[in-house]
Amino acid sequence: MSEIFKNKKIIVGVTGSIAAYKSAHLVRELKKLGAEVFVIMTPSATEFITPLTLENLSRNPVTVDMFDKNAQSGGAWHIHAANECDLMIIAPCSASTLSKIATGICDNALVTIATALPPEVPLIIAPAMDSTMFLSPAVQRNLKTLLSDGVHIIQPANGELSSGLIGPGRLPEIDILVNEISKILSSKTEISFATNKHYNLESLRSFYENKKVLVTAGPTIEKIDDVRYLTNRSSGKMGYAIAEKSSMLGADVILISGPVKIAPPANVKLINVESAEEMYEASIKNFKSCDFAILSAAVADFTPIVKAQGKMKKEDIGNELTIHLTQTKDILLDISKLRKKSQIVTGFALEHVNEIENGIKKLQRKKCDIIVLNSMSKENSGFETDMNTITILDAKGVIKDYPTMDKSDCALVILESIKNY
Ligand code: CTP
Repeated sequence: MSEIFKNKKIIVGVTGSIAAYKSAHLVRELKKLGAEVFVIMTPSATEFITPLTLENLSRNPVTVDMFDKNAQSGGAWHIHAANECDLMIIAPCSASTLSKIATGICDNALVTIATALPPEVPLIIAPAMDSTMFLSPAVQRNLKTLLSDGVHIIQPANGELSSGLIGPGRLPEIDILVNEISKILSSKTEISFATNKHYNLESLRSFYENKKVLVTAGPTIEKIDDVRYLTNRSSGKMGYAIAEKSSMLGADVILISGPVKIAPPANVKLINVESAEEMYEASIKNFKSCDFAILSAAVADFTPIVKAQGKMKKEDIGNELTIHLTQTKDILLDISKLRKKSQIVTGFALEHVNEIENGIKKLQRKKCDIIVLNSMSKENSGFETDMNTITILDAKGVIKDYPTMDKSDCALVILESIKNY
C-alpha cells in the first residue's frame, strides 16, 4: 500500500466537528505511508484541535487564515496549492463546510482550496455530524449536489454520537479513510483513461436526469431453517456503485438490496430484501414505472422447498442431510418479458469458460438488452473486489472489452452503454 502513497501530496482539510481530533491520526497514518501532508483548517476546527498539533504531525505549516502573510508565496497561493496536490480529503467535514463547497462560498482557506481543485484532482469528503443534521434535507441536498459534481463521499458510520444519540454521523475509522484514499489514488490512471475514452459525464447527466432506474444488488439468502441458509458470494459493491452513479447523474433510483455490509448511497430509495422470492416481488412491483432495470444481484438460483421452523437438531437429522431445492423465479427473464419498447433491461453474467459465447447465450435466453460479463478467469473481476474487469454485450451485437477499473468507473461505463443502446 505504501507505494501508492509515496511522495503523494495530500491536503487534509479539517473542519469544526468533535471528530476533528481524529484528523491527527489520519495525518500521522498518511505520513507513515510516505505521503507529504498539508493541513488546512477552518477557524472552527481550531476550537477542537490546535494547528500546532497538526503542524507537528504533518511537519508542514498549517493554514487557517486565508490572508496569512506566510502562506501567500507571491500571490494566488490557493491556485498553486490546489494544482500541486494529488488529492484532497476533508475529514471530518461539517454541515456548514459541505454547504459552502456545494455552493462555492469561498469565505475561508479550506473552501477556497477545495473549490480551486482542478478536475483531475480528486476531492474526498467524509461528513461527520449528529444524525439529525446529517439526515436533514439541506445536508442531503448538498451531498447530492457534491456527488453529481464528482466529489467522492465517504458515508459516515452508524453508532453512538457524542451527543448520546445513536445513528449515522460518526467519522469512519481511520483505516477506512486511508483505504478510500488508496483506492482513489491507485485508480486515478484508469479513471482518467475511462473518462477520456468511455463516457462523457455531461451527456450522461442530460440523459439520466429525472429518469427512473431500478437496481438489484447483493446476494439473497435462502433459509434452510431459522438459523441456516444458502447464499451466493457477493458484496453488493457493483450494484451500489451503479445506484450511486445513477443518482449522481440526476436519476430517481430504487435500489433493491439483499443483505450486504456496505452503507447505501445517499438519495436512493432502498428496499431491503432477504430471499430471491422477496427480491422478485419487489422488482416486478417497481419495474413498471422505471425506464431502466440493472439487475446486478447475485440471486440464489435454488431455494429449499421446505424451510424448517426454529433450528433443526443434528440428533434428529443423523449423519446426512438431504435438502430438496427448487429453482427460484428468474427476475431478469420475467422483467425482460414484461418490458415495454422504451425500457432497457441489463443483466449480469459471471462465466468461467467460453465467456463470450456463454454471455451471448445468456443474453438470448434471458431476453434482455444488455449483459455485463464478469470473467472469473481475469484478475480483479467479479464479486468482493473494489475493481472489476468487464465486457459488455448487447442484443444488437456490440461486444466491448474494458480495462480493469474501479467499480465506480465500471458503473459509469455500464450507464454509458445503456445510453448508447
Ligand atoms: N438473475 C435473476 N434471478 C434469478 C437468477 C439470476 O434475476 N433467479 C439475474 C442476475 O441478477 C444476473 C443474471 O440473472 O443479472 C445472471 O444470473 P446467473 O445466475 O449467472 O444466470 P443463470 O443463467 O441463472 O445461471 P448459470 O450461470 O448457471 O447459467
